[in-house]
Order: sequence, then C-alpha cells, then structure tokens
Amino acid sequence: MSDFVYSHIPGDEATGLTLVLLHGTGGDEKDLLPLGRKLLPGATLLSPRGKVLEDGMPRYFRRLRENVFDLLDLRFRTNELADFLARFEGPLIAVGYSNGANIAASTLLLRPEIFAGAVLLRARVPIEPDVAPDLSGKSVLVSGGRRDPIISPQGSVELAQTLRGYGADVTLNQENAGHELTAAELELARDWVGKFAAGLRERTSVAG
Ligand code: MLT
Repeated sequence: MSDFVYSHIPGDEATGLTLVLLHGTGGDEKDLLPLGRKLLPGATLLSPRGKVLEDGMPRYFRRLRENVFDLLDLRFRTNELADFLARFEGPLIAVGYSNGANIAASTLLLRPEIFAGAVLLRARVPIEPDVAPDLSGKSVLVSGGRRDPIISPQGSVELAQTLRGYGADVTLNQENAGHELTAAELELARDWVGKFAAGLRERTSVAG
C-alpha cells in the first residue's frame, strides 16, 4: 500500500478527538484545515489527500462521469483509506465535503469500525454494502443543498434513511443552497460537533 500525502496537526489532550478532513474534487490535504479548526478547536486534525487524479484534480475514487462512480475502485479506495486511518488513534470523526463526504459515507457502509461519527456535507449513498454494517452508537450529520445540481436533495434524504436503517443516529439538514457550503450550515456543524465531542467525553469518563 503506497502511503497518502497528508496533514496531521496534533490537538490538545483535553479534546481527545481527531477530525478526519476529506476534501472535495480538486482539493488537497490543506483545504479543510481551517474548517477543522473552526468546528472543534483543540481537536487533532488529520487530512489525507485523495490519490486519484481526474484531469489533474485529486479525488478519493474514480468516477466514470459525474455521479457515475467506478464501484470497484470505490471499494478498493475505501479499504485503502480505512487501512490508513486505522493506524491513528481515535475516536475519529469524519468531516467530508462532496467527494470527501462520499468516501466518508462509503467508509461508514463498508468499514464501520473506522469512524465514531461523521459530518457529511453534500453526500449521497455511494455504494450498497454486501454485508449490513452495524452503525448503532454512531452519530452522523448529513447536510445537503436544496438547489444542489450534483447531489440532489433526494440524494441526501436517501443517505440519511440508509444510515438510519443500519442503526446510526442521523441529523438531516437541508440548506437553501447549491453545492457550495453556507456560513449557517457551518455554524450548525460546529454546534453538532461540539455536542458530539461533549457526549463522547461523558461516555468515556463514565466508562473509565
Ligand atoms: C463525487 O464524484 O463524489 C460527487 O459527484 C461530488 C464531486 O466530487 O463532484
């Protein structure tokens, strides 16, 4: 397995969480670092760059054309990313945008052990798992855009329903926006991640 190019910024012990930042098509490992800092100050930030190039633009998996994914490649890339992430200390929370949100969703479905929770900004159901994943105990925020020409609002609804069907606690937000993110939904994501982190700390200290 050749390694990922990635950014890794250690956080403070008190926060004790790692945000795995997964960029959109054409992005890189630096793109979402400011978002990560905003969502949970003090969290460790880990951001791998997608290894697939589409006309020179990094992505996490191949697509045949817009919205038609190469499912063999998606399966392979999901496992490759999951194996890479498994080397880092958790709990890991995915924060993905667009193509990054799609591979985060694929990781939840194919390798459910990797993420404790996920923020999926503009994602849809990327793949049907052969084995039903157990997502109970995991929390996911799905945020779609009502006018998104790439990920339809229905795509976000189906993703939320699919993840719920496997036991995840899913919050679905539909923004009055297209594929681009809004300041309002980033505030919502910040509140969501803050609550998620507090809940996780509480459960860990009760258990420990
Ligand atoms: C994808 O290919 O993952 C989605 O269509 C989003 C994108 O990257 O344009």
